[in-house]
Amino acid sequence: MQLETFARHHIADMLDWFPTAEGLTQWGGPGLRFPLDETQLDEMQASTFGDAPARWMFAGIVDGNLAGHAQVALDWENGIGRLSRVAINPRFRGQGLAHPFLQQVIDHVFADARFERLELNVYTFNTAAIRTYLKLGFIEEGVRRSSAKVGTIRWDTAIYGMLRSDLAAEREA
Ligand SMILES: CC(C)(COP(=O)(O)OP(=O)(O)OC[C@H]1O[C@@H](n2cnc3c(N)ncnc32)[C@H](O)[C@@H]1OP(=O)(O)O)[C@@H](O)C(=O)NCCC(=O)NCCS
Repeated sequence: MQLETFARHHIADMLDWFPTAEGLTQWGGPGLRFPLDETQLDEMQASTFGDAPARWMFAGIVDGNLAGHAQVALDWENGIGRLSRVAINPRFRGQGLAHPFLQQVIDHVFADARFERLELNVYTFNTAAIRTYLKLGFIEEGVRRSSAKVGTIRWDTAIYGMLRSDLAAEREA
């Protein structure tokens, strides 16, 4: 799995990754319109430009194919990244690819000395994502109960975080 900057030419390759409205919300939160389309990904990508962009977007490439996608929303003032919109291409799931892909994203964030904290939100039923985040070293910090409305039901959101000092402690252990 090779880490690249997500580019416009990757967009078409991920438009069929989320075949249901619930699946799209599970990936991207309640702010997205179903189905995922080029316009929405274009808008996200437009916020990656400039000296202090609102987000970074990453592509995970396997044998020339788009196998993974992830974003990091950037709070430059506080030195906080929020890992979000993580997905493995459905054709590549179940092979343990999320872990090495996200490890590279984490390394990229902490390679920038301005970032002290990386956090993420995940719906509490999303076992595959949570197992991956725990293995990467994220720590659960709490649950925002009933925090997302999806159709007629509500989902709980767990908050996970990782500090630069956690990484140092891990390396020393
Ligand atoms: C979450 C996601 C990125 C994981 O990608 P992946 O590389 O295919 O993950 P894996 O298949 O290696 O699974 C990771 C772990 O979860 C476990 N797992 C996978 N599917 C599971 C399921 N349905 N129920 C319980 N555990 C599951 C695996 O056994 C593995 O655990 P292990 O490392 O202890 O063996 C992928 O499922 C995905 O893209 N989901 C849709 C989008 C999404 O939910 N993104 C997260 C938003 S926060």
